[in-house]
Amino acid sequence: MADLDGNINAKDWGLDTPQTSWDFPIKGAGQLDFGMRHRLARIFGEDGHTAMLAFDHGYFQGPTRGLERIDLNIVPLAPYADALMATRGVFRSIIPSTVDNALVMRASGGPSILKELSNERVAMEMADAVRIDAAAVAVQVFIGGEFETQSIANLNTQIDAGYRCGMPVLGVTAVGKELTRDARYFGLATRIIAEFGAQMVKTYYIDEGFDEVVAGCPVPIIMAGGKKLPSLEALTMAFNAIDQGAAGVDMGRNIFQRVAPVAMIQAVRGVVHDGLKPAEAHQLYLELSGGATD
Ligand code: R5P
Repeated sequence: MADLDGNINAKDWGLDTPQTSWDFPIKGAGQLDFGMRHRLARIFGEDGHTAMLAFDHGYFQGPTRGLERIDLNIVPLAPYADALMATRGVFRSIIPSTVDNALVMRASGGPSILKELSNERVAMEMADAVRIDAAAVAVQVFIGGEFETQSIANLNTQIDAGYRCGMPVLGVTAVGKELTRDARYFGLATRIIAEFGAQMVKTYYIDEGFDEVVAGCPVPIIMAGGKKLPSLEALTMAFNAIDQGAAGVDMGRNIFQRVAPVAMIQAVRGVVHDGLKPAEAHQLYLELSGGATD
């Protein structure tokens, strides 16, 4: 192991030089085998971007506001999302098997909000992701958390299983309340997840240094949504993330807790795929919703 005393801060990010992609539109995936690339292509599409809808919250917090009835709240949004991120229980019980979306299946979990959240385990065997025709599985990683090593072990278990059947793994950075959400932390967490072999990393947007977090991560960064913000702020955050190199967004509460979720997901899609500026996307939200006030 390198001597930490001699650790010098990273600084040369080469922000103007894209990473070699071998003519495949997904960062870091150009040398993967066919099945893995085919599944990633279902998530990201031809422009290499994804508008993913996250509604897996119930696996640790039960019936969150906006997810009381996933059949009523979420199914109408599916036609506007590239990918749906949920638990296998919800996919099988509620999501119509006729949907076109790429499915991203939660693959780690354990503790509820009543317990220490970093104490997760692997929550499903990879064969079930294949059975359900998932395009990827998602594993939470708690860098700096009490059970950091265990969460890395969960990640590695699923990455090994994923390589055996061509299933990509989305590593998700989970931030405990006591940790500082800055570029240094997210640079550390995202890079560790990618170094262990995850094919995508989901992480939060930060105002300072997000472009460096993206540059330092050899696989696509997907921006996490987080708590509900005013609609213009949420769209601005998504725009900034894409503008600074994120390959997409995976938003939940900022879409399904809106007054007009169907309008909001179309506005988010406009930012991710059509290059809409925040004000343009917000205008689209207002037009589609008939003037919703968040
Ligand atoms: C975190 O990645 C968990 O999977 C969450 O349940 C969910 O994806 C968070 O979505 P949001 O913060 O956008 O509501």
